[in-house]
Amino acid sequence: MNTKLYPESGVELTPFTARNYDRVMNIGSFGKYTGFIRNAIEAMNIGGDDQILDLGCGTGRNAAIMESYLGENGHITGVDISKDMEKQFLARFKDSNMVDFINQRIDRPFDLCKQFDKIFISFVIHGFPHDIRDVVIKNVYAHLKPGGSFFILDFAEFDMDKMPALHRFIFKKVECIYAFDYIKRDWKSILSGYGLGEFSEHHYLKKYVRLLQSMKIN
Ligand SMILES: C[S@@+](CC[C@H](N)C(=O)[O-])C[C@H]1O[C@@H](n2cnc3c(N)ncnc32)[C@H](O)[C@@H]1O
Repeated sequence: MNTKLYPESGVELTPFTARNYDRVMNIGSFGKYTGFIRNAIEAMNIGGDDQILDLGCGTGRNAAIMESYLGENGHITGVDISKDMEKQFLARFKDSNMVDFINQRIDRPFDLCKQFDKIFISFVIHGFPHDIRDVVIKNVYAHLKPGGSFFILDFAEFDMDKMPALHRFIFKKVECIYAFDYIKRDWKSILSGYGLGEFSEHHYLKKYVRLLQSMKIN
């Protein structure tokens, strides 16, 4: 990705970061990333026939774990805009007929002409301005089957001023202004306004990260 639409955003990655993304996450999480992501995906209760949409899918590391829960009728569609992520994703799934990739912006209205059982978005939505998150959630709603689940794996809601000084220093250094805004918002109330409800949540990594599940209820 060469041109950032949101210059302050930390999720529109440089080609260098995209090429080294998994390594950066492993190092940045002091080796905790793999265990954490496995636990979060286990909590999604993926069924063998699930049709899953992974928005901002990155290298496909998460999709590979999700794929391990699928049977022969299950399917994952990964969506991303980064060419460097696309290359890694396609290389990872070159021998799989259960996973495909679409190069598509998720911050603009789009139509994949399909509805999904589960939509997953991991460490992407915090990186958009709040009015753009509205577009993303509308895209999610349009692509969810009735009764389908939307999973946001991202920062939890917390007060930065109450973080231990070292955690606050790292968070402020590494994250973007949109993340600082994201953690202050009441996400259950926001999602309720879009016809999503029946929430459940799991917290990870000292409760700074949350998997928030909501269901399309109307
Ligand atoms: C922080 S990474 C997270 C990747 C992956 N979800 C994960 O958890 O490993 C953010 C991802 O969102 C993608 N992205 C950023 N803006 C996007 C947009 N407008 N539409 C689609 N993908 C986007 C980036 O290319 C990148 O792969």
